[in-house]
Amino acid sequence: MSNLFSSNAAEGYKQGSLSVQKVDGEKFIQTDVCPQAGDAILDLGCGTGELSAYLADLVGPEGKVVAVDPDKERVLLAQQSYGNVKNLSFVEGSASNFPGIGSQSYDIVFSNQVIHWIPDKEEVFKNVFGSLKSGGKLAARYIERLPSFVVSAYKVLNPENTERLCGMFHGEEKAKTEQYCSSAGFRIIKSYDLMNSQLVFQNIHNLLKWIWTLTHGVFDPNLVTDERLQRYYPYSSRDGKPPFDFRGIKEESAVCHLIAVKQAGDELKTLDVTHCK
Ligand SMILES: C[S@@+](CC[C@H](N)C(=O)[O-])C[C@H]1O[C@@H](n2cnc3c(N)ncnc32)[C@H](O)[C@@H]1O
Repeated sequence: MSNLFSSNAAEGYKQGSLSVQKVDGEKFIQTDVCPQAGDAILDLGCGTGELSAYLADLVGPEGKVVAVDPDKERVLLAQQSYGNVKNLSFVEGSASNFPGIGSQSYDIVFSNQVIHWIPDKEEVFKNVFGSLKSGGKLAARYIERLPSFVVSAYKVLNPENTERLCGMFHGEEKAKTEQYCSSAGFRIIKSYDLMNSQLVFQNIHNLLKWIWTLTHGVFDPNLVTDERLQRYYPYSSRDGKPPFDFRGIKEESAVCHLIAVKQAGDELKTLDVTHCK
């Protein structure tokens, strides 16, 4: 398997981001994030920056997007891909350390498929709250648990690595995440589930490559033997044959969507947070 993964994990993630994250991320931006021209947006956990660039386009030249990620390789690739976009900057950082932290300067903090990788959620919501303007919006997509086809891949294909791989994930029940959000001072406007509409892989190589990139290269293709693959197939889709299609299977593809507003007294009365205009 290892010789099939010719790119580095960040490049692989970029391809996966386009095929697994982008469409649903953009849909969320259109329906619930609703950026306005001139907005200042923080993209927290931007990955290789596909959605950051989309946001930068929507806020226009008067607005700006600051995109942050702790993965140096992904930030570098994002800078190479979108370095020519004037109102967009990519910075190595994290939910504990990003430009404008605590500055009450952002209109929107956007975070797509990130919160479940961060252990200290109390800190995330506190830092985001302190960085938003009064009346500003948090818009996040996250998952509560890893899809079982991913956990099975860890266990069957990478038993030597399973503990480390599972230890990277910090998903929590939706009710608990909402609690962190409210405790930080946010008013939750919407919280709902949708299935990932792109979770389909044409062959086993694409599926395993997605897991490899998702884990920043920790999932080790060198450990995937033919014998292990045979044992994995029954977990890889309902009939064990490609394409491996997890769309429509709730426990594999459910994604939580959260929209919350920083309490702003009377300003809330005039703020349209439910639909894009
Ligand atoms: C599944 S990717 C999503 C990337 C991007 N938002 C997208 O939609 O393609 C999750 C990202 O969260 C980042 N991440 C992990 N821990 C983080 C933290 N503590 N603060 C901010 N981002 C973090 C990872 O480096 C990774 O790029």
